[in-house]
Amino acid sequence: MERTFVMLKPDAVQRGVCGEIIARFERRGLKIVAMKMLWITRDLAEKHYGEHRGKKFFEGLVAYITSAPVIAMVIEGKNAVKLVRDMMGKTNPQESLPGTIRGDYSIDLGRNIIHGSDSLASAEREIGLFFTKEEIYEYKLVTENWIYE
Ligand code: RTP
Ligand code: MG
Repeated sequence: MERTFVMLKPDAVQRGVCGEIIARFERRGLKIVAMKMLWITRDLAEKHYGEHRGKKFFEGLVAYITSAPVIAMVIEGKNAVKLVRDMMGKTNPQESLPGTIRGDYSIDLGRNIIHGSDSLASAEREIGLFFTKEEIYEYKLVTENWIYE
């Protein structure tokens, strides 16, 4: 089953909406296979957002993501990468539709509340940056036969 990396950014923690956002993934039928709170270091931020190094928003992005603790998760399910990206909505909350996480919880591009891997390759890379193998659990949900045919 496909795995993706999801992070509730510092604004989600500070605004006290992590539980609501996690509930959306659970309600969808997705399985949380790893989860922890951490305070991202500058080094980890630069690795995670390495593709954006040199862009004009990079410094602001690193400052934002390291400004307070985040909640990191590995989420598993059929087509999890795309499902989660669709649930998140567009990168810029001004363009995110209502009903999406960014569309329901955020307004500004630099405070867009959640991160989700944008491809299978990114997911594998990001999961490896944030979690060890031992921190990711393999288990069966009792509801699985009612979620998948
Ligand atoms: P993320 O990586 O955070 O999940 O967001 P994303 O894939 O939807 O968007 P990405 O292009 O990877 O951008 C990463 C984060 O950088 C900030 N950003 N600012 N000022 C700008 O033009 C700009 N563009 C992107 C956003 O906070 C975005 O989430
Ligand atoms: Mg991205």
